[in-house]
Amino acid sequence: MAFLFNSDAERARIFAAAFAHELPTLPFVTDSASVDPATIKYLLTWTAPADLDRYRNLEILFSIGAGVDQFSLAALPDKVKLVRMVEDGIIRMMQEYVTLGVLALHRDLPGYMEQQRAGKWASRPVRQAADRCVGILGLGNLGLAVIDRLRPFGFPLRGWSRSPRSIEGVACYDGTDQLPEFLAGVDILVCLLPLTPETRGILNADLFKALPEGAGLVHAGRGQQLDAEALIEALDGGHISGAVLDVTEPEPLPAGHALWRHPRIVLTPHIASVTQPETAANTVIANIRRHEAGLDPIGLVDRSRGY
Ligand code: NDP
Ligand code: OXD
Repeated sequence: MAFLFNSDAERARIFAAAFAHELPTLPFVTDSASVDPATIKYLLTWTAPADLDRYRNLEILFSIGAGVDQFSLAALPDKVKLVRMVEDGIIRMMQEYVTLGVLALHRDLPGYMEQQRAGKWASRPVRQAADRCVGILGLGNLGLAVIDRLRPFGFPLRGWSRSPRSIEGVACYDGTDQLPEFLAGVDILVCLLPLTPETRGILNADLFKALPEGAGLVHAGRGQQLDAEALIEALDGGHISGAVLDVTEPEPLPAGHALWRHPRIVLTPHIASVTQPETAANTVIANIRRHEAGLDPIGLVDRSRGY
């Protein structure tokens, strides 16, 4: 039985070295055409192969990313465990990105960039961090790590999740019923939700209206969570003052799309966080060991929740 690695050559080299060292008896394969799919016990990939049903002895499907919305859960046999990537590299990079986005909005970088383009030298009103609440949608691995990185700045912090949470120094809200109350006090909203039927389109006109006047948005979840037209309307009307977007629908964003050129939007091409092969290899190896010891892997997707 073997491990099939389906990603780029550079990552394959790093994973292969780690596997040779840590799991020398598990054959490590990178070319699916060279093996009988029935011999594959573990598969690491971004998307499922078209002939997934031929991998009849597959036990774990590892996503190379933190998200698993690219897989069709219904098409995956029940006996196959789907595991999202929980690794230090992704977490660290997301901490950096969200901090960058929150500080950019807090210090009104979009406003200063507009002034720069107009050759205008002028200071803009400043608010102190203690007077600016940052709210995180999604209190999972990434949301919690981002909260830790934001703490030292002194922003009041809020978080929203599906199930109740208690986090020191963070006002926690859960479920759709508490979403309006959460939003009403949030000046910079950060979206780190997985894409599920419940979160698709969640960043919409109603949500923007529920935020205080002048609020900002940092979106690093998934493009399909955002109603781009509603955001542009809210930005044009001034209710939302700026947005930092890492994800769009579709990706890549087509030329000429309004998100490209809105002066109050900072746009990046889904680079907030990228799986780092050294740390990811350690995570996958540790999960294989857990599985072989009869334990659930870290990052096991609960199919009923979709994340
Ligand atoms: P986790 O699964 O660890 O956490 C998800 C969080 O979202 C949980 O707190 C969960 O609540 C909450 N949640 C899910 N559904 C709902 C809902 N309907 N209502 C309220 N809260 C909900 O995920 P990660 O933190 O690891 O990753 C989050 C997402 O970030 C990924 O799915 C991916 O889409 C995105 N991502 C983006 C990247 C980028 O580069 N832009 C890189 C990596 C990830 P509860 O705690 O109650 O379960
Ligand atoms: C991920 C991503 O899910 O890159 O890891 O978005």
